[in-house]
Amino acid sequence: MLRMANVETYYGQSRILQGISLEINQGEVVALLGRNGAGKTTTLRSIMGLTPPRSGSIQFEGKQIAGKPPHEIARLGISYVPDDRRIFPDLSVEENLLLAARLAPAELEQVWSLERVYDLFPILRDFRKRKGILLSGGQQKMLALGRGLMKQPILLLLDEATEGLAPLIVKDFIAVLQEVRQTGITILMADQNLKFARRVADRGYIIDKGRIYHQDKIERIWQDKELVRQYLAV
Ligand SMILES: Nc1ncnc2c1ncn2[C@@H]1O[C@H](COP(=O)(O)OP(=O)(O)OP(=O)(O)O)[C@@H](O)[C@H]1O
Ligand SMILES: [Mg+2]
Repeated sequence: MLRMANVETYYGQSRILQGISLEINQGEVVALLGRNGAGKTTTLRSIMGLTPPRSGSIQFEGKQIAGKPPHEIARLGISYVPDDRRIFPDLSVEENLLLAARLAPAELEQVWSLERVYDLFPILRDFRKRKGILLSGGQQKMLALGRGLMKQPILLLLDEATEGLAPLIVKDFIAVLQEVRQTGITILMADQNLKFARRVADRGYIIDKGRIYHQDKIERIWQDKELVRQYLAV
């Protein structure tokens, strides 16, 4: 479904991605694992066209998307959930979700409704009239994911879904993402938390200093203590 080859992305003069290559098959959940500053967010932003690559290729369903503007990439069915809970603070939960729904490309299958998102996160149903700014950090993360789903993506880019959340809420997210993946959606999740990622993902890529160092089934990464120590342990 997605194939990145030798992608190089810069911030100003600094080359952040030093030639990233990875592949994601339809229906897979793939984790991009690495420490702070490894280049995870930059990889997702490169796919989405928010920081377009300076060189290399990104193919989505056989079409070249590197260099296309973000709104065109979104129209193909790619949705990006940033790590900073970018929701509208002055709008209610429901208004946030409905606004996202309006961005869903008409030609995509409409899998996610308000009710379906509320079934995933019942607390959002209870708080549907509440302004975004009044939600807790965890609830804002839920709303950000809900907004991502309301765009009816076929590829979901999920950045640090559970960063900073309490263990009990992380457990909720694991259950939710396991349910979401049953719909056949494809997910690329960027995360530092291998313990979380292994409960959701099939496969993982290890990124460090803008390069991919390893890729394997997530369970095999989990069991490779030396690899984990070298690239993931803090
Ligand atoms: N807007 C920016 N301008 C300049 N450099 C940046 C910018 N954003 C990120 N960088 C640099 O790019 C590198 C990769 O950052 P990136 O955010 O992709 O890492 P990450 O793996 O997502 O890390 P984190 O775990 O902190 O989210 C870092 O060295 C970072 O300092
Ligand atoms: Mg990041």
